[in-house]
Amino acid sequence: MKTIKLNNGIEMPQIGYGVYQVSPDECERCVSDALKTGYRMIDTAQAYHNEEGVGRAVKSSGINRSDIFIVSKVWISNYGYEKAKASIDDSLRKLQTDYIDLMLLHQPFCDRYGAYRALEDAYREGKLHAIGVSNFYPDHLIDLASNVDIVPAVNQVETHVFNQQTEAQKIMEEFGTHIMSWGPLAEGRNNLFSNETLTKTGNSHGKSVAQIALRWLIQRGVIIIPKSVHIERMKQNLDIFNFELSDEEMAEIATLDTGKSLFFDHHDAETTKLFMSWR
Ligand SMILES: NC(=O)c1ccc[n+]([C@@H]2O[C@H](COP(=O)([O-])OP(=O)(O)OC[C@H]3O[C@@H](n4cnc5c(N)ncnc54)[C@H](OP(=O)(O)O)[C@@H]3O)[C@@H](O)[C@H]2O)c1
Repeated sequence: MKTIKLNNGIEMPQIGYGVYQVSPDECERCVSDALKTGYRMIDTAQAYHNEEGVGRAVKSSGINRSDIFIVSKVWISNYGYEKAKASIDDSLRKLQTDYIDLMLLHQPFCDRYGAYRALEDAYREGKLHAIGVSNFYPDHLIDLASNVDIVPAVNQVETHVFNQQTEAQKIMEEFGTHIMSWGPLAEGRNNLFSNETLTKTGNSHGKSVAQIALRWLIQRGVIIIPKSVHIERMKQNLDIFNFELSDEEMAEIATLDTGKSLFFDHHDAETTKLFMSWR
């Protein structure tokens, strides 16, 4: 399994399995399948309401806890120092573990400084082995990374062939923060699975469109967490380390960038209001 060394020396797998929109009932089965398939990193969040399913699957897998890398995220309704601190303990309980490998702040809204200080203290206590953020675009990341003791190890942002985040990635690198993609397959939006360039490239390597889209991110050094509830797709998404895209192919896929989100614009007033309704 290819790993990425984070800014505190911790190694994390470059590919993992994401469980957003996997129902609490189905989560245990999906994570068990993912672990059987060979995934060793699982990405969940308080807001997905399925940390218990992840915990049960990890526990029953028979795999050493130290061989599985668990990522979770603190939701904005738990921001502020005291609430975030209590929510970390709650996540540990639901995940049935003494430590979480990487804990992120899920969104750049509300009392994120109070919440981040809770992550820092839990890191110092050994409850979290690495800490970071998610959806922090350059303005928010620069602000936070410049004003905390422990620079975020990771920033998980929407990153796929249609929203490539190349400039944002450079800024993260300036701070020693590693880019992690959510939505590496763009959830299939913008007809990703029938895209002409990706289909043509896939045909020349005997690989699927999904494998090309994921391989392109891997070659840029991005950490990825594709989600599928189907075991055959889980296998397919992991089977991307036995071929390489050429410089020309990388460059051609780079032209698919629209520089825009297919989901949320975190700087849009209506989006911000929507997040406030989820506090
Ligand atoms: N930090 C954040 O704010 C944030 C936001 C969104 C997501 N995330 C994380 O990122 C993970 C991945 O993102 P995502 O779940 O939004 O989307 P995604 O991984 O880009 O795409 C998932 C979709 O693609 C389909 N799919 C997966 N593999 C496929 C394949 N090989 N061929 C055809 N279709 C395939 C899945 O369908 P089936 O399941 O039916 O196979 C599902 O509809 C999440 O699970 C979550 O852990 C984080």
